[in-house]
Amino acid sequence: MRMVDLITKKRDRGELTNEELTWMIEQYTAGSIPDYQMSAFLMAVYFNGMTDAERNHFAFAMLHSGDVLDLSDIPGIKVDKHSTGGVGDKISIPLAPLVACLGVPVPMISGRGLGHTGGTLDKLESIPGFNVNESEAQFKKQVRTIHEAIVSASREVAPADRRIYAVRDVTGTVESIPLIAGSIMSKKLASGTNALVFDVKVGNGAFMKTIKDARALAKALVSISQTAGVKSVALLTDMNQPLGITIGNSLEIAESIAVLKNRGPRDVHALTVALAAQMLVLGGKAPSLEIASGLAEDALRDGRALTAFKQLIQAQGGDPAVVDDPRKLPQAKYRIPVTADQSGVVDQIDTNTLGLAAMQLGGGRAKKDDVLNLAVGLVLHKKLGTPVSKGDTLVMLHADTKDVADIVGLVQKAYHIGPSAPKKSPLIHEIIRP
Ligand code: URA
Repeated sequence: MRMVDLITKKRDRGELTNEELTWMIEQYTAGSIPDYQMSAFLMAVYFNGMTDAERNHFAFAMLHSGDVLDLSDIPGIKVDKHSTGGVGDKISIPLAPLVACLGVPVPMISGRGLGHTGGTLDKLESIPGFNVNESEAQFKKQVRTIHEAIVSASREVAPADRRIYAVRDVTGTVESIPLIAGSIMSKKLASGTNALVFDVKVGNGAFMKTIKDARALAKALVSISQTAGVKSVALLTDMNQPLGITIGNSLEIAESIAVLKNRGPRDVHALTVALAAQMLVLGGKAPSLEIASGLAEDALRDGRALTAFKQLIQAQGGDPAVVDDPRKLPQAKYRIPVTADQSGVVDQIDTNTLGLAAMQLGGGRAKKDDVLNLAVGLVLHKKLGTPVSKGDTLVMLHADTKDVADIVGLVQKAYHIGPSAPKKSPLIHEIIRP
């Protein structure tokens, strides 16, 4: 086979066979196909798309370019959750212990933040001592014994995706639904999970800005899962404002602890319970979403989920004392208010910009190897639909320097204050099943 023939086939809207896709990914991973040819192929996919069969096989070929964990010797239906990324999205942190304490094993392989979105691993690392780099044996032992582990992918997971993503990043080919779906699934299926719940974010703080695009991505994720024999469901959830009231690593851990103490913000609580219910049904622990939601609410109310979070921290070398005293988490030196410059009602929030503001404070990465300040971030005092008077605090910046005038300006511009409340968006827009 020759790569040029596969490129021209895709350029001319042909359909690549499984053998061709497998060959391409194998040769590219081995270094026998140069990046310029892969770039041309990716651009052809960007314009001409992929058939469902191509997209699914592309995902599997990338999955098998690296290690795939085998968790079949761990009893129970293993269920993981994947979010396509948002601002203030800390849901994995209360969710894993909540589902684990109800008997469903949760083998979570998570990521780090880049750009305006945060990453679960960075947030967990704000807990003193917390180790996200476990060996495969440790990871499996933990999933078997306490039903939960949240770790970083090893270098060996889907190396083809790592290289292809780097090429997409610099060739304008990231925003392609088959390429995004293949990329996500090549990593997600590598954890050896039996079932997956997808949280596909939609709105001005998400990758997918429209319901139409989010639905297409959700359908692709569910279809690839089905072909892989993994049960799944996808929720399209709102990202037209940050989730909860915190953006920033240790701030989001403190908020997650509040959720586990059953006193977190209503949206984070509701989404955690909704995703937990889906996971409990897929994991065979409840016959209906209604019963599953009741089980999850009970475990939040009686402290079982909180205890499971302490167990997770302890198992991964962290200091569980942060749960009883969140002031033990890294704290920023200064609190700097951003105030409203007029009276009215918050009718729009540019979520992406708030994520970028947290990044500029030092809480996120502009480049992959940036070192984070885990203490800094934003605490939102006002969310969509809240009335404000001129001079009210909209957001409290947690900063390690007072030199933040630009960031104050950025946050102030991200808030739009109008005469009346906006139309209320549902937290969950749609549920997509196979
Ligand atoms: N997340 C991924 O893992 N890959 C993409 O292509 C986009 C988001």
